[in-house]
Amino acid sequence: MKFGHFDDARKEYVITTPQTPYPWINYLGNENFFGLISNTSGGYCFYRDARMRRLTRYRYNNIPVDNGGRYFYVHDEGDFWTPGWMPVKRDLDFYECRHGLGYTSITGERNGVRVNQLAFIPLNYNGEVYKVTVKNTSDKKKSVKLFSFVEFCLWNAQDDMTNFQRNLSIGEVELKDSVIYHKTEYRERRDHYSFFSVNRAIDGFDTDRESFLGLYNGLDNPQVVAKGEPSNSVASGWSPIASHHLKLDLAPGEEQTLVFVLGYVENPQEEKWEALDVINKTRAEAMIAKFAEPAQVDASLAELAAYWNNLLSKYMIETGDEKLGRMVNIWNPYQCMVTFNMSRSASYFESGIGRGMGFRDSNQDLLGFVHQIPGRARERIIDIASTQFDDGSAYHQYQPLTKRGNTEVGIGFNDDPLWLISGTAAYVKETGDFSILDEDVPFDNDTNNSATLFEHLKRSFYHVPNNLGPHGLPLIGRADWNDCLNLNCFSNTPGESFQTTENIEGKVAESVFIAGLFVFVGPDYVEICRRRGLEKEAAEAEALIQGMKETTMKHGFDGDWFLRAYDHFGDKIGSKECAEGQIFIEPQGMCVMAGIGVESGDAEKALDSVIEKLETKHGIVLQQPPYSKYYINLGEISSYPPGYKENAGIFCHNNPWIMIAEAEIGRGDRAFEVYSRIAPAYREDISDLHRMEPYVYSQMIAGRDAVRHGEAKNSWLTGTASWNFVAITQAILGIKPDFDGLKVDPCIPKAWDGYTITRVFRGDTYRIKITNPNHVSKGVAKLTLDGQEITGQVIPVVGDGKTHEVEVVLG
Ligand code: BGC
Ligand code: NOJ
Repeated sequence: MKFGHFDDARKEYVITTPQTPYPWINYLGNENFFGLISNTSGGYCFYRDARMRRLTRYRYNNIPVDNGGRYFYVHDEGDFWTPGWMPVKRDLDFYECRHGLGYTSITGERNGVRVNQLAFIPLNYNGEVYKVTVKNTSDKKKSVKLFSFVEFCLWNAQDDMTNFQRNLSIGEVELKDSVIYHKTEYRERRDHYSFFSVNRAIDGFDTDRESFLGLYNGLDNPQVVAKGEPSNSVASGWSPIASHHLKLDLAPGEEQTLVFVLGYVENPQEEKWEALDVINKTRAEAMIAKFAEPAQVDASLAELAAYWNNLLSKYMIETGDEKLGRMVNIWNPYQCMVTFNMSRSASYFESGIGRGMGFRDSNQDLLGFVHQIPGRARERIIDIASTQFDDGSAYHQYQPLTKRGNTEVGIGFNDDPLWLISGTAAYVKETGDFSILDEDVPFDNDTNNSATLFEHLKRSFYHVPNNLGPHGLPLIGRADWNDCLNLNCFSNTPGESFQTTENIEGKVAESVFIAGLFVFVGPDYVEICRRRGLEKEAAEAEALIQGMKETTMKHGFDGDWFLRAYDHFGDKIGSKECAEGQIFIEPQGMCVMAGIGVESGDAEKALDSVIEKLETKHGIVLQQPPYSKYYINLGEISSYPPGYKENAGIFCHNNPWIMIAEAEIGRGDRAFEVYSRIAPAYREDISDLHRMEPYVYSQMIAGRDAVRHGEAKNSWLTGTASWNFVAITQAILGIKPDFDGLKVDPCIPKAWDGYTITRVFRGDTYRIKITNPNHVSKGVAKLTLDGQEITGQVIPVVGDGKTHEVEVVLG
C-alpha cells in the first residue's frame, strides 16, 4: 500500500494523507543552519550543531508521535485546525505534503479555507523561511485568525532536557514590532539569539507557553487558539515560545501571503547590546529585510532549485526503469548530501545529542557526495584527519561545532583508520587534487603535533600491521564496522556502554573484516605512494597486502565462506563450528570486494553461501542463525532480540558490499537483484509494511527472525545512502572515478539493452552511451571517446571544460 507518489518532474515525493505509517520527514538547510520537518509539520531546527545550538525544542519518542514543530493554527469562527493535520488533528477536506529538495510544502483545507505553508532554508542564510498562503475558497467573506507557534529550546539540547532546577528560571524574550526575540543566556556568555518574525503588523502575540496553551493542555488544544484571542504574554523563565496573532479578512477567492522567518544571529561581543538589557537587533533586521516580500522568497527558492539541479547534474542516468531513475538522479544523491551534512547527529532516531560526526561514518559518507561538492569533501577530510592520534588510531566521533574528537562512543575501533585512506583516495580520484596530501594536519587537534595528510594515511595503513593478533589477522579493538561485535567488552553491568567499556585487554580478538578492508583500501595507499615517487614504501605496502590476503585465506576462510572473527579465547566467530552466528555478511562482501579468493573460486562460493544462508525477500540479513541469548564474549550484538539491528537484521549498509562483490565476479543479474530489494523506490508499494519513507534508505529492515520482518527503522542518517550510491553508479552502472580518468566497467543484468549516463568529471561533461547488443553482464568490447577508439577501460581526462561523447559497447 502507498501513501503518496513520486513526482519526478518536480523532484518531489507527494504525500496524500497525513497518517503515514510513521512521520515521513525532510531535511532543510545546506551549510550551517538545518531543520527537520515531517509531513505534519513536526520537527526542529538548529545552527550547525544539534546539541549545542538547538533553536527549537523537540521531545523525541513522544506521544502522540511527532508532537512539536513549527505550527500555524487557523481559527475560523470558533473552529480551529492546523494545515498539516497535526497537532490539532481536525479532519481536513484536502491534505497534501510535497517534500522536495531542501523544501517542504504542506497544504491543508477545511471549510473553505486553504492554507499552504512552504518551508525552506535559503542558501547562505541562518534561518528558516515560511511562506504561508491563506486562501478563501468559499463563496462568502471569511475572517480568519492565524496563530503561529514555535517553542524555544534553551540552546543546549541536552541541558534543556535535564537541568530544570536552573532552566525554569532563565528564559527571556524581547519584542519589537512583529518580531519575537529569544535571548535566554544572552545576558551572560552567549553571543547569539534567535528570532521569529512575520512581514506584517501583528494583532497580538504570546511568548509564554503556559499562557498560550494552558497548563494542562497539549499542542492540540491551545487555550489561546480555541478562544481566538492572544493573551499578549511576555515570558519570564519557564518555557519561552513565539506566537504571532494575525487577523485576515478574505473576500471569496482572495488569498493573502505572509512570510515568517525563524532566524539565528551571532553578534560580536562588543556589539551585543543596544542599551542595558536591550539586544542589538541590526543583524536580525537585515535578515528579515531579505524576505519582506513573497517575491523575494520565490527568487530564493529558485536559487535553491538551481543549486540542487547543479549538484544532481554531476551524475545522471537515462534509463527505461523509472524507479532506477528516481533513485540515481534524485533521492539517493539527495540523501548522500544530507548524511554528509548531518553524519549521525540529528534525525528522529538520532537525538542530535549523543552522536556527532563519526570517523568511519563521515569517511564513508564522502564516497557518496564527493562528486557533488569536492571542495567541501576536502575540508571534511582535513577535519576528520585532525582528530586522528599520532599512532594512527582515532576518536570514533567528533563534535560538529568544535570539530574536536570526543570519547562518548569510545576510541580504538580498529577499522576506523583505514576509512581515512578510502575517503581521501575517493577525493583524489574524483578531483585529481594530489595537493591535499601535502596539507599539514594536526593529530588530535594539537597544532604542535602535526604532519602531512599523506603521513596520516601512512599511520592509518600501518595501524593494521602494527596491531596484529595470534593468527596474523588484525586485532579488532573495541569493535570494527560492526559496533556491536564487542569482543573485549565482557560487560555484565546493566546499562554499561558496550562501546566504551573494555574489561579485557584487546590483544587476542581478531577481525577478518578488517583484514578484507585492509586488502580493499591498501592498493589506493600503494598507488598514492607511487605517485609521490615512494617506490620503496609502495613495494613494502604491497607485500603487506599480499601477506594479509594469504593470511585471510589461511585463517579467515571456513571452507564455504569467510569467517567473521576470532574472539578473546581465540575461538571462531562466523563458522560452521558455531552453534549460532555461523555466517556473517560483512566479510563476504568486503573480502570479495578486495579480490580475495576470486581466482580460486572461493569468492564465488562465499557469495553463493550468502544466497543460501542470508537471503530474504526484503534483503540480506547480517548473520545467521541469530543469537538467541546474551553472550558476554560477544557483547551488544547478542543483546538485540533476533532479527533486529546487528543481530540478524537486514543492515542496509552492507547489502551494497554484496552488490559490489557480485559485480566483482561478474554476476550482474544478482548484483541488481540485491540492489532492487532494498532500494526504497522499489519498496514503495509495501510502504505499510516498510513504514519508513519510500524515498530514502533506512539503516535497518527487520530480518527474517524478527516478529516484524520487512519493517524498516532509522531512516535517513546511515552509511547505506553512500554505499548504495557507490554500488549502483560505480559497480553496476560501471562509471568509476580513477586516478587518471573515468573507468568504465559495468556489470548489469543481461537483459538490459543499454542506458546513457551524463557524468561531470574534473570540469568536463561526458555523455556515456552504453549498449549491450550481445546481452552480457560484464566486459567492454569497444570504447570510443569523441569517435576515437580507446584501448583499455579508462576514459582519459580531456580537461577542456566541454561535453564529450563516449560510446561503450559491452560484449
Ligand atoms: C547500534 C549501532 C551503533 C552503535 C554506536 C548501537 O547501539 O546498534 O548500530 O553504531 O550503537 O552508537
Ligand atoms: C551505525 C554506525 O553509525 C556505523 O558506524 C556502524 O558501522 C553501524 N552502525 C554498524 O554497527
